[in-house]
Amino acid sequence: MQVRVLGSAAGGGFPQWNCGCANCRGVRAGTLRVRARTQESVAVSGDGQNWFLLNASPEVRQQIESFPPLQPRSLRDTPIAGVVLTNGDLDHTLGLLSLRESQRLVVYATERVWTGLVQSNEICRTLERFDGQVTWRRIVLGEPLPLTAGAEASGLTLLALPVPGKPPLHARGVEPSSEDSIGLRLSSATGGTLAYLAAVGGPAPALQELSHGADAVFFDGTFWSSDELITLGIGTRRAEDMSHWPIGGPAGSLAFLSSLAVKRRVFIHINNTNPVLREDSPEHALLGASGVELAYDGMELSL
Ligand code: MLT
Ligand code: MN
Ligand code: ZN
Repeated sequence: MQVRVLGSAAGGGFPQWNCGCANCRGVRAGTLRVRARTQESVAVSGDGQNWFLLNASPEVRQQIESFPPLQPRSLRDTPIAGVVLTNGDLDHTLGLLSLRESQRLVVYATERVWTGLVQSNEICRTLERFDGQVTWRRIVLGEPLPLTAGAEASGLTLLALPVPGKPPLHARGVEPSSEDSIGLRLSSATGGTLAYLAAVGGPAPALQELSHGADAVFFDGTFWSSDELITLGIGTRRAEDMSHWPIGGPAGSLAFLSSLAVKRRVFIHINNTNPVLREDSPEHALLGASGVELAYDGMELSL
């Protein structure tokens, strides 16, 4: 399986347009050892020809232009055989609307995420310019689902389980559902396995189940600490209130990831405030010492 990180930042990206935190100022000024990052999305392929996007970032256009295997092979064409959504957050779904140019699109999502997106949402009809423009393939929790490229097998199979999460911020008054936020385990016919856990609110048995024996695990690296935004004077909510398990501390996700018997562990969906973005920070060094990597735009893995 080929894996390409298209975007590695949390919602807002790095730098974020309205953020003047030390990290965002430093990346703009070029005074810190940091890399700019676009909003999270990863492309995977089992055959090197057909690609699947894990989440559709608001920066999908720029991301496609940065990676030639995602570019058209003929007059009107895309090697993107499908888009898999792990939740309905806008940083994971807005990119769908950028892919609207009368191009057929296949979207894999739970029923909850799909209806949350297209029901009562007029602008999603821009993806219905002609009958069959978008095909929704329903992800049923716990049921292996082969990903297809047109009518053909793609060599990849997906398994999804619920992970601690929340409905998207714009959903009002909906009861939380086990289909709101999912973790993925992608298996390739040629042997590679990837666990994709980009939004995780806290510990849960499903995390072990999805990542057991995987060649690589991508994991929610949004915040270093629970009170990161509060300490910076940026917000009032703790990481857990936003369904993001912080990395640091004895009960943090770094300790959990270090305990996993997998070859590669990679934090992704990193918020612009996270001190781990600074490559000369103690937090960054701790990651390295724990054998955990930090995703960056353009990172590639061959599993
Ligand atoms: C999140 O990761 O919590 C969401 O992207 C927040 C948001 O939708 O702005
Ligand atoms: Mn997000
Ligand atoms: Zn910032």
